[in-house]
Amino acid sequence: MTSLHSGHPLAAGRTAGSRLVRSYQGERQEVTPVWFMRQAGRSLPEYRELRVGTRMLDACLDPAMASEITLQPVRRHGVDAGIFFSDIVVPLKLAGVAVEIQPGKGPVFEHAVRTADDVSRLEETDPASLGDDTFAAIAEAVRLTTAELGDTPLIGFAGAPFTLAAYLVEGGPSKDHIRARTLMHADPEAWARLMAWTADVSGAFLRAQVLAGASAAQLFDSWAGSLSLADYAEHVAPASARALSHVRDLTYEVAEAPGAGGSEAAEAGEPDTRNVPLVHFGVGTGELLKAMHDVGADAVGVDYRIPLDEASRRLGHVVPVQGNVDPAMLDAPWPVLEAHVRDVLRRGLEAPAHVLNLGHGVPPETDPTVLTRVVELVHAWRAA
Ligand code: CP3
Repeated sequence: MTSLHSGHPLAAGRTAGSRLVRSYQGERQEVTPVWFMRQAGRSLPEYRELRVGTRMLDACLDPAMASEITLQPVRRHGVDAGIFFSDIVVPLKLAGVAVEIQPGKGPVFEHAVRTADDVSRLEETDPASLGDDTFAAIAEAVRLTTAELGDTPLIGFAGAPFTLAAYLVEGGPSKDHIRARTLMHADPEAWARLMAWTADVSGAFLRAQVLAGASAAQLFDSWAGSLSLADYAEHVAPASARALSHVRDLTYEVAEAPGAGGSEAAEAGEPDTRNVPLVHFGVGTGELLKAMHDVGADAVGVDYRIPLDEASRRLGHVVPVQGNVDPAMLDAPWPVLEAHVRDVLRRGLEAPAHVLNLGHGVPPETDPTVLTRVVELVHAWRAA
């Protein structure tokens, strides 16, 4: 176990009692916390304005710009967390992989990784050599952001090895990630090396964010839903566990705060040591929820395809859930959206705790005033 430094927002007590952190730790809050995947980005005019003339990955590596973009949706919507503005391919770029993000398309790689030799070329960069200097711009952006956020937690994130491999093997976005799924069977040894390398690069990125001040971390395995449970368990889950192991050891102590929401352990005078909460999310992963929890996550993100009460049942009713408003509903008339959000909140009661989110990212054409209204609705809602 490794203690976070005393100035870290969790260790210093600024975010340890927040609705978000407590919900991820399975403690139901009177007010359900809410944030949105892709809350920073093209749905916000202030984002579009700031990004003019700057390429996506350059914006991610400019600490002042990345920090400002992270803060924009927190100021505007009053959400319960910031999600660090970056991208899942940023650590690959920092590890020397030639990649760019094409607007409207996504990550595109100069060289696809298709063979054992291609994997060996990646391995010429030893992930263990990616030190503080590699992630200096990331750590600086996190520090600037958490200084502004005060007692609102920042969520760090990284891409899971399979989702990154789905891009690397294809060389860009693909529909069913078929080349990646072929490689895992055609050359399981090369596949395992690719997954281990990606896990360590992504894990180092995640660790840099948490050490610099993130109060929670989310692993995005967006495309894991294209896998069977058997393939996921055999060829993917070990690498996702490996990615999370880079932050699993990070702990802090909840300070004694008599009467002011101090934990039971703290009130009993015992040290209350907790780990930084870890969330695991994928799209179309209804069949994988249990396996995704088992890799070492504290909470599981659920997309909009299965209701939260069913997701909680599949998780044995012991795992905090995050989700799962259908992004398509954001453009529906308010009464339709409101009824849907209330339904999600009611179903979320089946889990020990619930963080409201979308089932996937905010569509770029979303009217941002609708998101603010959803936040107000969620914050005003109480379990009957
Ligand atoms: O607010 C947030 O959620 C934080 C920022 C964030 C971005 N990417 C910024 C971004 C996060 C968490 C990601 C993760 C990410 N990136 C994932 C996992 C989450 C998911 O959506 O499933 C994936 C699969 C990627 C890869 C990626 N990067 C895609 C598919 C795209 C979209 C391409 C497009 O233009 O539609 C990107 C680019 C990207 N990442 C944008 C943003 C704000 C758009 C870039 C722009 O504004 O031009």
